[in-house]
Amino acid sequence: MLTDHLPRLSLAHLPTPLEPLPRLSAALGGPQLWIKRDDQTGLATGGNKARKLEFLVAEALAQGATTLITAGAPQSNHARQTAAAAARCGLRAILVLGGGPPTQSRRGGNVLLDRLLGADIRWTEGDKRAEVMAEVAEEERAAGRRPYVVPYGGSNPVGACGYVAALEELAQQLAQRSLDVDHLVFATSSGGTQAGLSVAAKALSFPARIVGISVDKEARELQARLAVLAEETAAHLGLGLHFEPDEFIVNDDYCAAGYGVVTEREKEAIRLLAETEGVLADPVYTGRALAGLVDLIRRGAFGRQETVCFWHTGGTPGLFAYGEEGLLV
Ligand SMILES: Cc1ncc(COP(=O)(O)O)c(C=O)c1O
Repeated sequence: MLTDHLPRLSLAHLPTPLEPLPRLSAALGGPQLWIKRDDQTGLATGGNKARKLEFLVAEALAQGATTLITAGAPQSNHARQTAAAAARCGLRAILVLGGGPPTQSRRGGNVLLDRLLGADIRWTEGDKRAEVMAEVAEEERAAGRRPYVVPYGGSNPVGACGYVAALEELAQQLAQRSLDVDHLVFATSSGGTQAGLSVAAKALSFPARIVGISVDKEARELQARLAVLAEETAAHLGLGLHFEPDEFIVNDDYCAAGYGVVTEREKEAIRLLAETEGVLADPVYTGRALAGLVDLIRRGAFGRQETVCFWHTGGTPGLFAYGEEGLLV
């Protein structure tokens, strides 16, 4: 395995299930749809950050850290899973969440879980998060503790290794089923998931197209970041791989409404998956990626006989911050 030589903790429930979506495939008239259930990774209700944290928290512990510090949006899944990982390892967790003081709608969902997990939440304005994280780290040092700053979304070369290992896991599951996948589709934002998958795909000559549906960033910006992150991740693994921005497929056609804004498209896609397969998608990430996938299918972007795997990256608690009548149902 590509990541075997790296320090890693066992935090996630792996392998996550790979399941067919026959009723959704039928409702859309093909292609053959499958789902990789990374909403089932554990760590306080699952999500893609559990895989990244296995490598990140191993590094933190190796450095003697006592406190994990990270930042995100108010409904950050990454922050919630970092808080859960800290609790699992007996570490303090300080979460710097952007967007000013919490309103009623921000108390539910991930924020409720952050609080249950014992995290210390610091609210700040979105563009001050890096600054506040540095101040918090300084505070911890002054108190004689050792902070470890987990980057936004866990997306640095250490965290991205979680998705290098994830692609190897998927490749094994596909081999066991004698199944080939033509396209992998998932939500992309800070890039660690897509960079990790892309490094493993290149190293293993995994043939599927890796299609990130951007949740909040322009394709060009994200592609540039992905090339750097993938190359650094490969170097971290001791692989000499080179990446160019235009190797990455990033579709930014579905993020114009803005981060966390639910449109009719997300609403319809979330309900379609729930009603046909009993699987929940969140409004911010997986619902948006699924909305993109459904639209691409309707536009004929995939052959009817092709196989598409939707990589569910989690986010389920986010649903409970959108419970107000009319937002989702
Ligand atoms: C549920 C969910 N899906 C997808 C993503 C995007 O993953 P990445 O940041 O690795 O691009 C995130 C990250 O914030 C997330 O919380």
